[in-house]
Amino acid sequence: MAKFVPVEPFDIVIFGGTGDLSRRKLLPALYHRWLDGQIPPSSVIIGTARSPMDHAAYRELARTACEAASGQSWDAAAWTDFEKILHYATIDATDPGADWPALRSLLTPDDKRPRVFYLATSPHIYVDICRAIGRAGLASDQARVVLEKPIGTDLASARAINDGVGEVFSERQVFRIDHYLGKETVQNLMVLRFANMLFEPLWSHNYIDHVQITVAENLGLEGRADYYDRSGALRDMVQNHLLQLLCLTAMEPPNDMRDDDIRTEKIKVLNALGFISPDQVKQTVRGQYTAGLHDGKPVKGYLEELSSATGSQTETFVAIKAEVKNWRWAGVPFYLRTGKRMSGRHSDIVIQFKPAPHNIFGQGVESVNRLVIRLQPDEAVRLFVQIKEPGPGGLRVKSLPLNLSYAESFMLRYPDAYERLLMDIVRGNLSLFMRREEVEAAWRWVDGLIEAWEVSRYGPETYPAGTDGPLSAAMLMDRDGRSWWKES
Ligand code: BG6
Repeated sequence: MAKFVPVEPFDIVIFGGTGDLSRRKLLPALYHRWLDGQIPPSSVIIGTARSPMDHAAYRELARTACEAASGQSWDAAAWTDFEKILHYATIDATDPGADWPALRSLLTPDDKRPRVFYLATSPHIYVDICRAIGRAGLASDQARVVLEKPIGTDLASARAINDGVGEVFSERQVFRIDHYLGKETVQNLMVLRFANMLFEPLWSHNYIDHVQITVAENLGLEGRADYYDRSGALRDMVQNHLLQLLCLTAMEPPNDMRDDDIRTEKIKVLNALGFISPDQVKQTVRGQYTAGLHDGKPVKGYLEELSSATGSQTETFVAIKAEVKNWRWAGVPFYLRTGKRMSGRHSDIVIQFKPAPHNIFGQGVESVNRLVIRLQPDEAVRLFVQIKEPGPGGLRVKSLPLNLSYAESFMLRYPDAYERLLMDIVRGNLSLFMRREEVEAAWRWVDGLIEAWEVSRYGPETYPAGTDGPLSAAMLMDRDGRSWWKES
């Protein structure tokens, strides 16, 4: 049975408080922590945005959002208590004449209380908001600022944001969020690796053939065409979520679970990533979906989904053969793959071990083991082992999983990643948030790849919606005598 330890009373101000992230994730996450008794009633939640709105209207917006996100766990009685701590302030954070005194009057006048400023806005105004918080005298010692991804669009813009935010907040007050690190199964990756002696002796180039990391989505743009067309799959998913998964898979054991210990190990992995030069561009595949199917129904292609620009070269799919150039991983390819409008929604990390050195069971017997970590949905850890298929008629070998399914083992509601991360922010625990160098190291690698793409003649290859990406993604593996793992 999970035990929830209440956090101390806190104030949180959400910039972009009426936006998509607030409605889909942040407000429901706070509501669920309230339901579990983790948020003390003297806490204060303030949504802010530019549009004028009173507290009642904001509570109504929040109620609709939380009810929609809650399903079975919606509790109308608990809501009437929760909404008492919800407030709204109209602020254009980029306007020097904005009404900061009105916001201040809603905050608890206690500089010792954790005060969280959550920037759920476009990154190009992060610095303006931080400066305005500083000018309003609200950046107390106990204040924290939360930066949503993407932090910039390249190394230079990420540095400019980090510098600007750093004028107001010290590094220990900056929580750069990657919601993948709040997912239960992603945290389990660390437990699996560092609380089980079984894997460590095998966890290197000595026994691992290659690693596959796939984050496949079957949805399309979901009304975010403007943002997405400027970003693409590389910036939207690889720079952050996929590289974080790679770091947790490849990093050395940290000395402790403390924030800087984990972050230091992750940064070492990012710094060991081999740069992809223009002549290695064939190690990567870019794709863009065309019209196809979603759940058996026809859907538009990417270009038709964009309201304006035609001929966009933005990639909605990426596959990359990456290398971690260090002692542990020399020669082990890390294949990364992510895309929109693929055949299904699933995120997996597949560790494929080397085959047995000598096959005594005859031709056609695949003597490899795979550890498949299903991050979502149907969260599970499966270790595929070879076994003898029972019965007469020759010795037949079959690969079957030792199956640890989360749903069967724990009868729990799965908390959303933001629930854990928000409580960590209030507690001041930085371990699941990125340090400045980490974000910048990831951008440095991604910038190299974008440059390689720019000088190459290859644009994105098309793939029909509802498939597993362009043909070249399969070829990328095929050339190495490997294939993408697919659940049979
Ligand atoms: C976000 C991306 O960071 O992650 C989205 O901007 C993507 O494009 C989403 O859909 C995926 O998150 P999850 O938790 O649904 O896997």
